[in-house]
Amino acid sequence: GDSQPLKGRRLLISLGGTREAIDPVRFIGNRSSGKQGIAIVTEAALLGAVGVVVSTVDFARVDGFETIRVESALEMHQEILSHLPESDGLIMCAAVADYRVKNPASIKIKKGASAPQIELIENPDILADSSSYIKSNDLKCVTVGFAAETNDALLNGKKKLSKKGIDLIVVNDVTEDGSGFGSDSNAVWILGSEGSSERIDLAKKSKIAKSLLLSLVKILDLKFPL
Ligand code: PMT
Repeated sequence: GDSQPLKGRRLLISLGGTREAIDPVRFIGNRSSGKQGIAIVTEAALLGAVGVVVSTVDFARVDGFETIRVESALEMHQEILSHLPESDGLIMCAAVADYRVKNPASIKIKKGASAPQIELIENPDILADSSSYIKSNDLKCVTVGFAAETNDALLNGKKKLSKKGIDLIVVNDVTEDGSGFGSDSNAVWILGSEGSSERIDLAKKSKIAKSLLLSLVKILDLKFPL
């Protein structure tokens, strides 16, 4: 078969965990290492794709991909939205904070008489905003999300697929042994908005990446043939 089914396609891929500043030295973060996303970029290049990566972590250059480093969800939101028009596919593998600190302190918070109260406000949903932007501007871009779940993984994954209005979702139960945050392997379901469902038992993150990219190829070739 075709060894480079993504040749001629531009992908926009986010990876890593966002950091929400509390003050100049502290942040609210999460356990994403970026490994699953880096595996996606690497496999996408092997399959012939080029594009842009919006990342919160440093990683080795991948041919054909430009990397933009960001830290917070707001920065990621801006970069992703601005690169959508030239992209054929968006893959949101980043673990994005749902909330940020409302008023980050401009100088280091000192230890005082009482514990500081940190007020949070909601971050924009990058994936949901991208999906509505694509629809309202008639962009030819297929959308892929991830769902990191600790309970009722399939049910919650399906809900996110429809709520965010995307084409594909990769659902991982991050409590399964050897899968999810930080590990070199993962175990997932890949669900399509048309009802398709594929289970991939514990496998290298590169294998998960390739399966997800081949599912993306099918949708791209159907919706937007080259
Ligand atoms: O980086 P690793 O250590 O290799 O770990 C990989 C991973 C576990 C981080 C990855 O496989 C994964 O599940 N990534 C998504 C993590 C996440 O934020 O899931 P969520 O269920 O909270 O969000 C659902 C989807 O909406 C995700 O595609 C997310 O990028 C997106 N989102 C979430 C919140 C937000 N404000 N904006 C978003 O776009």
